[in-house]
Amino acid sequence: MKLTDKELTQLALAAAEHSHSPYSHFRVGAALIADDEVFFGANIENRSYGVTVCAERTAVFTAVAAGKTHFERLAVASPNKEFITPCGACRQVLSEFCDDLKILLVNSEGSVQKTTLKKLYPRPFARKK
Ligand code: THU
Repeated sequence: MKLTDKELTQLALAAAEHSHSPYSHFRVGAALIADDEVFFGANIENRSYGVTVCAERTAVFTAVAAGKTHFERLAVASPNKEFITPCGACRQVLSEFCDDLKILLVNSEGSVQKTTLKKLYPRPFARKK
């Protein structure tokens, strides 16, 4: 997709506005390019804390539910100056759909660190049939 990295990071920051995080007050945003379209995610918490879903998985599931499973780039926006990386569960979910993926980590000031799924999650769980 034609979006620049900078534009994608801005979209991830904007996606955090839809975070439902009344328990942690930690508002995370994600923007995922899949099959040339952009999908947004925000963390959605629940009063039953364990069923909370991260911003990254929200974006992935939104894309997959729309039939888009070829992931190109993912931006993850932290609400703070500190960068965050996708949690283990999100890494495993991403690995279901791609061997590797460009990931842009964005902080609250719009600064970016680049990484990849392969670097963050070199040996995903997978089994032969
Ligand atoms: N969270 C995300 O949405 N993505 C991450 O990469 C790490 C954590 C959310 C889950 C929870 O709603 C809040 O941040 C605090 O853990």
